[in-house]
Amino acid sequence: MEKKLTFLGIETSCDETAASVVTEKGDGLGIILSNVVSSQIEEHKEFGGVVPELAARAHIEKIEFVIKKAIEESNLNLKDIDGIAATAGPGLIVCLNVGLNVGKAIAGSLKKPFIAVNHLEGHALSPKINNKIKFPYLLLLISGGHTQYLKVNQINSYTRLGTTIDDALGEAFDKTAKLLGIEYPGGPKIEQWAKKGDENYFKLPKPILKKGGCNLSFAGLKTAVLKISKGLKNQKEKYHLAASFQKTINEILYEKTKIAMEEFLKDKKNVEKIFVIAGGVAANLKIRENLTKLSKEKKFSSIFPPLNLCSDNAAMIAWAGIERYKMNLIDNLKFPSKARWPLDISAPFLKGPGLKF
Ligand code: KG4
Ligand code: ZN
Repeated sequence: MEKKLTFLGIETSCDETAASVVTEKGDGLGIILSNVVSSQIEEHKEFGGVVPELAARAHIEKIEFVIKKAIEESNLNLKDIDGIAATAGPGLIVCLNVGLNVGKAIAGSLKKPFIAVNHLEGHALSPKINNKIKFPYLLLLISGGHTQYLKVNQINSYTRLGTTIDDALGEAFDKTAKLLGIEYPGGPKIEQWAKKGDENYFKLPKPILKKGGCNLSFAGLKTAVLKISKGLKNQKEKYHLAASFQKTINEILYEKTKIAMEEFLKDKKNVEKIFVIAGGVAANLKIRENLTKLSKEKKFSSIFPPLNLCSDNAAMIAWAGIERYKMNLIDNLKFPSKARWPLDISAPFLKGPGLKF
């Protein structure tokens, strides 16, 4: 019988300091033995976003405690761990370096294998901890930093089908929230406010809805929200704007996901139709409802990882470490942190003004 692997995962790419111990359950699934996340919301909320230097300092202050707690809660000792996986990118370099260096130091001193994990691959593989999913599958990753449709071909092999050409979806939620006077991160509160408003009250634009394949754009939407927010008369109208914004997002996601599904099926019609939605914004219930409905219409099975695996965490990093180790994708301790690290390196960089579809 093959030995069941146990990995320590470390994540510090943005504003969560996280460590987790994950072990193999067998049959391709995993068991999360501990999943410790220390959020920095308090540090950043008055600034309306993540301040890199503050984030790095908070990571340095917390990382040792967070790792110790993850080991303790797993009821194992460091010597029982078969390998260390740490996020090496994409993200804020000053933040990435904290977790990456600690991970390398632990791996080096214990002489255990080290895996440098792409944070996006962590999100992409996270649903496989609890679900048996065959490759390839369609992934929509919607977080504060990324918004992409990807075909997950295999570990380490991705085809990007579409991406945002400006803001990430979580960023669009957070910017709208800021204009409405909501503290960072505002996504969850927009969802709450939307329940109290009329979603048809304001008409908002849906940029590049009918062009650009399943690429997305949210900047025009933000500009429209900015204009409207200046003339709001009362709290009720703020609720209407939150509701109208969320409805517009859902209409965009509905249309763009339809295209992504077609593209996913383009070369292989008899492939199993699996659609995974991950990232912090996947916590939004209206978005879940909308994409579940579309999946049913298009005969896709929709999979939403549990909420603690949607937002940033280290269990997904430990799991990606285990999956990569089994493919012999082991890194050396010189592996650098990377601010930009696309999963599909052949896909063109699609950001900035002047893009034409
Ligand atoms: O994946 P995540 O925790 O961190 C990143 O990798 O960015 O995502 C955080 C993002 C934030 O922009 C936050 O406002 C958004 O996810 N978010 C939501 C909801 N919960 C979190 N957006 C809309 N509705 C929600 N319920
Ligand atoms: Zn993330």
